[in-house]
Amino acid sequence: MILLKSERDLAAMRPACRVARQVLDEASAFIAPGVTTRELDEYVAARIKAHGGRSAFLGYRKYPCHACISVNEEVVHGLAGPRRLQFGDIVSLDIGVICNGFIGDNARTVAVGGCDVLCQKLMDVTERALYAGIAQARPGNRVVDISRAIQQLVEGEGLSVVREFVGHGVGRTMHEEPQVPNFVEGKKSEKLRPGMTIAIEPMVNAGMPEVKILKDGWTVITVDGKPSAHFEHTILITEGEPEILTCEAKTPSELKAG
Ligand code: MF3
Ligand code: CO
Repeated sequence: MILLKSERDLAAMRPACRVARQVLDEASAFIAPGVTTRELDEYVAARIKAHGGRSAFLGYRKYPCHACISVNEEVVHGLAGPRRLQFGDIVSLDIGVICNGFIGDNARTVAVGGCDVLCQKLMDVTERALYAGIAQARPGNRVVDISRAIQQLVEGEGLSVVREFVGHGVGRTMHEEPQVPNFVEGKKSEKLRPGMTIAIEPMVNAGMPEVKILKDGWTVITVDGKPSAHFEHTILITEGEPEILTCEAKTPSELKAG
C-alpha cells in the first residue's frame, strides 16, 4: 500500500528532510585526507543530534553505524571503522534522519581532496542520473519512467546500474512502497500520485553491475573491484514539478535563530 502524505504529514517530514540535507552538507565538508571513517560517523551522529534528530539507520535491522560510509569499490552500507581516508578516494555518504516521527534520506559521493577523471565522470553521471529520474517524477508518469530515465543516462555513458538495491517510498518508516528501481524491470509499475514521497537513489558502477556483500553482513562492494557512486534525494510528487525535500535549506533551529 502506498501511503500518501497529507499537508500535516509534510509539515513534520519537511524538517526531517532539511536536517538530513544539512548534515549531509556538513559531513561532506568534514571529509579530508587522514580522517577515519569512524570519526566521520561520530561527526554525523553529533550533527544529527545538534539539529534535534536521530539517525534513521542506527539499529535498523541491527545496522551498527549512524551513517553509511562506502569508499571506492564499496557501493552502499559501508561500515565505519579505523580506515583513514586518502587523497583520491571517493566516499559515498548516505544520511537518514528521523525528526517528528518522519524520515529524510539522502546521499552523495564526494572525492577526498581530488580524484582521477574516471571517478569524476562516475560521480557526475550518477548525480545527473538522479536529476534525470527526478524530472520524470510527476503525475501521469509511472515509477518505471523514473527507472528508465536513470538507466538510459547511465548506460549511455558506458557505466552500469546496480540491480540488487533500489529507491523506495519513505515516510514514517524508511522503506515504504513503492520500490523505485534504477533500471527497467518487466513488471507493471505504480502510477505516480501527488502526496507520494519517494527516495530516488541511483547506485552506479564504473565497471560491471554485479555486487556482493562482505562477511560483515552489510558492506556491498562491486564484484570487479571498480569504483561505485551513489546519489539520493527524498522528493514529493506534487500536481506539477516534483519538490526536492532534501534540498538546500535552513534547518528548524536555523529558522528559529532567524
Ligand atoms: N539509503 C539507504 C536505503 O534507503 C540506507 C539504508 S542503510 C541501513 O536503504 F543501514 F539503514 F540499512
Ligand atoms: Co534510501
